[in-house]
Amino acid sequence: MAEYLKLASGFVDFDQKSLAVAAAAIAFNPIYWNTVARQEYHNKVLTKLAGGNARLGCYLLAASIFSLGIFRDYLYEQALRSQPGHPDLETDLVKLIAGGLFLAGNVLVISSMWALGLTGTYLGDYFGILMDSRVTSFPFNVTDAPMYYGSTLSFLGTALWYGKPAGVLLTIEVLVVYLVALRFEDPFTAGIYEKREKERAKAKRGKKN
Ligand SMILES: *[C@@H]1O[C@H](CO)[C@@H](O)[C@H](O)[C@H]1NC(C)=O
Repeated sequence: MAEYLKLASGFVDFDQKSLAVAAAAIAFNPIYWNTVARQEYHNKVLTKLAGGNARLGCYLLAASIFSLGIFRDYLYEQALRSQPGHPDLETDLVKLIAGGLFLAGNVLVISSMWALGLTGTYLGDYFGILMDSRVTSFPFNVTDAPMYYGSTLSFLGTALWYGKPAGVLLTIEVLVVYLVALRFEDPFTAGIYEKREKERAKAKRGKKN
């Protein structure tokens, strides 16, 4: 891995400002949604902003996360444009693999949005909009975090499509940032659902008495 990075870095132009801008955008997005979602959970900031309507608050968050994602993807493509290509990556086989990765990544992202719905995808749990039960259907039978791994595959596919080692480097950043986000998000959402289970159990006991 270290050897590969050293090899690849010879083909990365670190003097391009657009590279740093894309790297910053990749790191910023998960920090943004985690910060805002936790503010919502603790202080109901977005629900208040939406006049007390939690669902509308979640839609606001969804719109902002979605827009930031589009902007980040744009900055990523702009960064790749000003980077050198690697001759070994400029082959038909690599293009074919790139297309496959991009397609697989998008299937994971879109099908997980389909399975979770809008509020399920965009942190509805933090607004008190909980799923009835854990989704285990496709793509959740393939991976626990299809959104994140799908997005990573799309970044990698794009990097290989353009034959840019800088894109592979940024894809590694995407993966690391998502893995950190998962370590942060998974225990928190698990806690939200545990709390509901306890409340449900309590309500059941209350009914019996
Ligand atoms: C996941 O579910 C899909 C659709 O139901 C199915 O086609 C696929 O084989 C399953 N994959 C795994 C790994 O179980």
